[in-house]
Amino acid sequence: MSEFIPVLTKEEIATRVKDVAQSISTDYKDRDLILIGILKGAFIFLSDLIRHLSIPVKVDFMCVSSYGSGTSSSGRVKLVKDVDLELKNMDVIIVEDIVDTGVTLSYLVDHLKSSGAASVRICALIDKKERRKTTVVVDYVCHSVQKGFLVGYGLDYAEFYRNLPEVYHLKL
Ligand code: PRP
Repeated sequence: MSEFIPVLTKEEIATRVKDVAQSISTDYKDRDLILIGILKGAFIFLSDLIRHLSIPVKVDFMCVSSYGSGTSSSGRVKLVKDVDLELKNMDVIIVEDIVDTGVTLSYLVDHLKSSGAASVRICALIDKKERRKTTVVVDYVCHSVQKGFLVGYGLDYAEFYRNLPEVYHLKL
């Protein structure tokens, strides 16, 4: 039987999201900021995060998928949906639910820089370190873990559990 081990409560998520939003609001005061949520996993985190920002901000979405089987990334990323907004001279923050190998984010950073963004930073709900394959820097992090398959608050297992308001380590 599957086991759900609590990782982050609703209260812990709310506190961390608010803290990160405050840091972003300070760091990007008087700049031209676009937050880009990466579908699908980031949709809940992004929607909570932007409601705590105290600066003007534009929002867009990208969707990427990595080729490969099961739970491991193949290292190749396919662009499913690009940004719609003009990025030239804009400061961009990529908003992700989780950074695992870092392959997706390395691709996204390169792609957004070559699309004309003035700067590109990364904000993630979860920084999972054990399987990192790239040197990607996660600038804003709500929570770090070494390992574990996490679900809830946008994170899925076979597309289920995104709706859970807390984050759990799923043991199958
Ligand atoms: C997850 C997550 C990141 C990526 C991170 O997306 O949202 O985009 O994997 O993994 P990486 O660091 O190993 O590249 P997923 O492919 O599960 O799609 P989803 O967002 O639709 O759940």
